[in-house]
Amino acid sequence: MAPPKMIISEEQLRLRVEEMAHAIAGDMRGKDFILVGVLKGSVVFLADLMRGLYRQGLCPMVDFITMTSYAEGTQSSGHAKIIGGLHLDVAGKAVLLVDDIADTGLTIKRARDHVLALGAKEAATCVLLDKPTRRKVEFAPDYHGFSIGDVFVVGYGLDAANRHRCLPYVAELTGNDIS
Ligand code: IMP
Ligand code: MG
Repeated sequence: MAPPKMIISEEQLRLRVEEMAHAIAGDMRGKDFILVGVLKGSVVFLADLMRGLYRQGLCPMVDFITMTSYAEGTQSSGHAKIIGGLHLDVAGKAVLLVDDIADTGLTIKRARDHVLALGAKEAATCVLLDKPTRRKVEFAPDYHGFSIGDVFVVGYGLDAANRHRCLPYVAELTGNDIS
């Protein structure tokens, strides 16, 4: 199987994530904030982002929620469901939600509503990739790494039916390399 076609290199990712950490640190410094990653797609991005924040002098608490919107394929089901909840208490805290990508916008918006319903004082959103043309709900992330078109991408944590998460770069998935 040929590897999927790279569209964002390891070096581009490294530089952009560092810039994002710098911007986030500028806004969050002095706040009692918690990073909340949306599993599973955010893990690689979050791991790099939290170390970027550390280099900016910040070491927030980290927690995760598990959400699902896809059954197995590459089309959103149209429902973003929380299937695993937070362990930390976010009441009164500032939260930065981190996900791999905003596509229809349903997942990250639902995650934000969830932490606000749990009493978070504020909830900002951060995604590595943004596909603004695909929205089904009105949503704009507070921080995003790269805007991309209507293509299905994998790597750097993003999957297609749980495959390709380990690729160290972001690649476009074409018809023949789904599995
Ligand atoms: P949304 O709810 O439609 O915004 O989709 C968000 C979730 O769908 C993300 O957390 C991803 O897991 C997944 N997703 C959306 N687009 C892609 C893609 O191009 N590749 C891999 N996963 C994607
Ligand atoms: Mg995901």
